[in-house]
Amino acid sequence: MSAAAKHAAIAPPNEALFPPAAERERIDDYLTRELARAQSRIVAGSATPTLDMETFRAELARFDFAAPRPLKSLLDWSIPMLEHGIVHLTHPRYFGLFNPSPSFPAQCADRIVGSFNPQVASSATSPAAVALEAHVIRMVGRRAGLPAQCGGHFTSGGSEANYTALLCALTRAHPKFASDGARAFPGPPVFYTSKECHRSWVKIAHQAGIGRTAARLVATDGKGRMSMPALAAAIAADRAAGCVPVLIVASAGTTNAGMIDPLHQSADLAQRHELWYHVDAAWGGAMIASDTLRGALDGLERADSATIDAHKWFATTMGCGMFLVREASAPSAVFQVTASYMPSHEVSVDPYMNSAQWSRRFLGLRLFLSLAAAGWSGHGAHIERAVAQTARIREGIEARGYSIVNDSPLAVLSAVPPPKLGDPRTVVERVLKSGRSWVSLARFEEQDVVRICVTHGETSEQDLSILIDALTLSA
Ligand SMILES: Cc1ncc(COP(=O)(O)O)c(C=O)c1O
Repeated sequence: MSAAAKHAAIAPPNEALFPPAAERERIDDYLTRELARAQSRIVAGSATPTLDMETFRAELARFDFAAPRPLKSLLDWSIPMLEHGIVHLTHPRYFGLFNPSPSFPAQCADRIVGSFNPQVASSATSPAAVALEAHVIRMVGRRAGLPAQCGGHFTSGGSEANYTALLCALTRAHPKFASDGARAFPGPPVFYTSKECHRSWVKIAHQAGIGRTAARLVATDGKGRMSMPALAAAIAADRAAGCVPVLIVASAGTTNAGMIDPLHQSADLAQRHELWYHVDAAWGGAMIASDTLRGALDGLERADSATIDAHKWFATTMGCGMFLVREASAPSAVFQVTASYMPSHEVSVDPYMNSAQWSRRFLGLRLFLSLAAAGWSGHGAHIERAVAQTARIREGIEARGYSIVNDSPLAVLSAVPPPKLGDPRTVVERVLKSGRSWVSLARFEEQDVVRICVTHGETSEQDLSILIDALTLSA
C-alpha cells in the first residue's frame, strides 16, 4: 500500500465524541441554561423522586447503543432523569445524610477539571495540580492542629481515607506487614472503634485482609460516645488473648447522631498502648473552620491521622475526601512502589506512591476554590448557620411534643416523636410521602429515631417551618 493510501485509510475524529469547537460551545451554553432552569424547578418541587421507575427501566432497556443518537436529545433526556429520579441534595429541605448541596466554587472547579482532565498520579504530568493539592491538605491539617510536617492526600471519600489509616497503622505496627500481610503478626491484629462508628470500618477490616471481626465495636456510654472503660477493657482482653491491637479510631461526629467520642482520652489510651490514633471526622471535621465551634474538636490535634470529607460539610461536589496525617511520610511506607513507565518517582511528592489510587482526578481544586473564595470565615459561617438552624428545628419540634435524645454540637438531631404522631418509621414515611422534606430513620442507642440533619447552605426560615409542619402532621 502506498503512503497516500495509508493516510486515506485513517478516519477523521468521531464527531459525536469530539464535536467541533463551535458546536461544543453551543451545547455548553445550552447545558448551563437548562441546568439552571432545572435547579429552580427542584427548589420549588419535591425533594424525593417522582419518576415512575417501571417506565424508566423500559426506556433504559431501549438503549441498546446500536444506533447513535443526537447529543442534544440525550441531554434533554438526562436532565429530567435526574430532576425526577433522585433524592435532591440541592433541595433546601433535604435534611438528610451528610451530603451537601455543593458550593458554587466547587462546581466551577469540577467544570474546569473536567475540561483539562489532568492526570494527578504523578508530579511530572501535573506539577501545578499536585502542588496545589499538597498545599490545601497542609493548610487543612494545620487548621486541624496537626504539626508543620503534616501531610496527606485527597481521597475518593471518607471510606478510602479510613482504609488508608488502617493500612498505615498495620504497616507501622509490624515491619513485616508490608511483605507478609497479617501473617507477620504473632496473633490476630485488631482495632477499636465504637459501635456507633461508620460501617465503612467493617468493610475496611475485610478489605485489609484482617477479617471483619478485627473491627472491635466498643460499647458506648449510653449517649452515643465510645465508652473509655469499655475501650480499655477490650484492649486488655485482646492482649491477654494473644491478639495484637494496632489502632484506635475515635469518631468526631458519628453518622447517626453527630456524637464526638472523648478525643483526649482516646489519644491517652492510644499513647499508653503505642497504637495508631485516628480520628474519623468525616463530617464533623469541617467545624475546624468555625472559630466559635471548633473547640468541640479539641483533641483532634493529637491524632496520627484524620479523615475529613470535603464533600460533606465543606460542601464540595462528590467524591472529595481527605486523609490527613501527622507524619507526611507515613503513607509512602504503605503505597511506595516502583514503575518504570511512570514519568516521575519522587516518593515524598508523587501521589501514586503515597495513596491507594493510581490514575486520579484533580480533586483538590474544589476545596481550594471554595476556601479561597469564602475563606475560613465563610466556611465557619456556613457551619454556624447550620448549627443555629438545628437549634431552631429543635425548639419547634420540642414545642410540639418531640424529645431529642442526642446531645451533639453538630447540626443533627435524633428525634423521637410524641406517641400521637406514630413511631419514627411512620413519621419518616409520612414526611417522605409528602415530598416536602427529606429526613431519615436511624438507630441511636438501641432506639429508632427520626434523623434530621441540616446540610444545605441556603435553607431558609420558611423551609424550617415547612419541615416542622411536615414532622408534626398527623396521619
Ligand atoms: C463518620 C463517617 N466516616 C466515614 C464515612 C464514609 O465516608 P464516604 O461516604 O465519603 O466514603 C461517613 C459517611 O457518612 C461518616 O459519616
